[in-house]
Amino acid sequence: MATPNKVKIVEVAPRDGLQNEKQFIPTEVKVELINRLSTAGFANIETTSFVSPKWVPQMADNAQVMAAIERRPGTIYSVLAPNMRGFDAALAAGADEVVIFGAASEAFSQANINCSIAESIARFEPVAEAVKAAGLRLRGSISCALGCPYQGDVEPAAVVEVARRYLELGCDEIDVADTIGVGTPRRVERVMKAVTEIVDPSRVAGHFHDTYGQSLANILASLQAGISIFHTSVAGLGGCPYAKGATGNVATEDVLYMLHGMGIKTGVDLDAVIDIGQWISGHLGRKSSSRAGNALAARKAA
Ligand code: HMG
Ligand code: MG
Repeated sequence: MATPNKVKIVEVAPRDGLQNEKQFIPTEVKVELINRLSTAGFANIETTSFVSPKWVPQMADNAQVMAAIERRPGTIYSVLAPNMRGFDAALAAGADEVVIFGAASEAFSQANINCSIAESIARFEPVAEAVKAAGLRLRGSISCALGCPYQGDVEPAAVVEVARRYLELGCDEIDVADTIGVGTPRRVERVMKAVTEIVDPSRVAGHFHDTYGQSLANILASLQAGISIFHTSVAGLGGCPYAKGATGNVATEDVLYMLHGMGIKTGVDLDAVIDIGQWISGHLGRKSSSRAGNALAARKAA
């Protein structure tokens, strides 16, 4: 299959990138991060999550963040909501897109959202209905699509089954997530092919954590399977609190460098993202984990 010549990048650093940080990050810093990402041209930014602050304390300032950001016309500001309480808060905060998040593995579903896969789908039903009634976009995330920290292997059929339920719920977009970064290109190709047998490829996203350094190869495999939406995190920030040892999402700078080098358009200003990556890493007191980001920043400074 020919690779797409245009890709949508969903920048997830404000949510997936920061949710695992132990030290509470001031709301102003989160807001500045989102504002700078908006200016860099992202079409979709995952802004925060409306989950229990006992489970994920870093996202406790969700409503304040949403109220303070400057919205760029044309950018979709997405938030996670696991239940009706989360949806009500997301609606009040003016989210453009609500993300329901389930898993292809029973053990991870229990660890992350404290219920079985079937129970999660039942919990998502009223949320999906309310999202649609409010005229918002609905996205469904499938964790552990390439492996589970508790269960090990996950078969593509299990991923397809959750995707099928998400389609029934009316999801506009479906995320195939490698929560712990264990996937390799042939496996990714297999799962993407299986999912795109029931979901149009234009509505499927790849969400790769880079724990094993496989993400760029997995994105290339996904592109070859017709996928044109990828989730990335500036400076490679992130990790899931309920997936031990999981590191950040693939770094935005690395993905932009690869895609632009391949002549694939993203609409995102890589130069601006390099500065954002260096700035937020400095704020967190560590070196950016983006290889391209660090190399390009060094070149700029020379
Ligand atoms: P629970 O304990 O089973 O449910 O949690 P509950 O209904 O009994 O609620 C427990 C407490 O949370 C109650 O408070 C509720 O009011 C409150 P208490 O009475 O004890 O004071 N509560 C809420 N508070 C604020 N907002 C809400 C909300 N709902 C309940 N929406 C629940 C179930 C799903 C709520 C919980 O397990 C939870 O919040 N989990 C969060 C999980 C999470 O955020 N994980 C990280 C994001 S997913 C991810 O990173 C993966 C992804 O990136 C893809 C990938 O890489 O795989 C998307
Ligand atoms: Mg994730």
